[in-house]
Amino acid sequence: MVNPSRAWQRDHPWALVYDRISADPQIGALLWRIGTGASVAHLHRLAAAELRRLPAGSTVLDIPCGGGIALRDLPREHPLRYLAADISPAMLDRTRSQARELGVPGVETVQMDVGDLPLPDGSVELVMAFTSLHCFPDPRAALAEFGRVLAPGGRLAVSTITTDCPLRYRGVWPLGRAAGVLGPGCSLPEILQWLDEAGFAEAEVTPAGALVYVTADRTHGHR
Ligand SMILES: C[S@@+](CC[C@H](N)C(=O)[O-])C[C@H]1O[C@@H](n2cnc3c(N)ncnc32)[C@H](O)[C@@H]1O
Repeated sequence: MVNPSRAWQRDHPWALVYDRISADPQIGALLWRIGTGASVAHLHRLAAAELRRLPAGSTVLDIPCGGGIALRDLPREHPLRYLAADISPAMLDRTRSQARELGVPGVETVQMDVGDLPLPDGSVELVMAFTSLHCFPDPRAALAEFGRVLAPGGRLAVSTITTDCPLRYRGVWPLGRAAGVLGPGCSLPEILQWLDEAGFAEAEVTPAGALVYVTADRTHGHR
């Protein structure tokens, strides 16, 4: 199988198009809605809510950060350690520009592969992985890594197109696979099973067009 992460890492033309769409609040937001059947506002609402509930000084891992879509949701009133990580150096450049544009200080951009995170066990309080699992070669390994790096009581917020998304969106799979930017994908039941295996509980699922948003708690006492 072609590894989609290699295409993203080399800044596949779709990466720039995707970044322009996701960063633009007018035409981009409209195209996002047409493409996914959902509003990008959903992502921002969830990111803002998850970030707001963290105590000051908490560590957030935003992976894949893409062009820094979630930076605008960072609370200004209390400082967080914000690790913006992606496999693509070009996306990390875009995140740095976005941080400058928004005037958000203290964003650390780090190149990381989601399948092998260079972070100690239990070192993160929130993992945000938006619009993500469908782009990875091994979504199960990514969820296992999220479970490993999250501290007990930590939170995961993830969104993805699933293989069992509503029928009218399923054409994205052959198209994205042919373009080399989508991985094998996974169904919602697989995500829930892999979350359980990775030490998560209390999964909450919100379908939004082609996407599902899932939040879950990293349980205490797993492993
Ligand atoms: C569709 S974008 C989503 C970006 C952002 N989270 C958003 O919601 O707009 C997918 C991102 O996954 C990144 N990516 C793909 N494979 C990866 C991997 N193995 N490790 C880390 N990032 C990866 C790509 O570079 C790209 O930025």
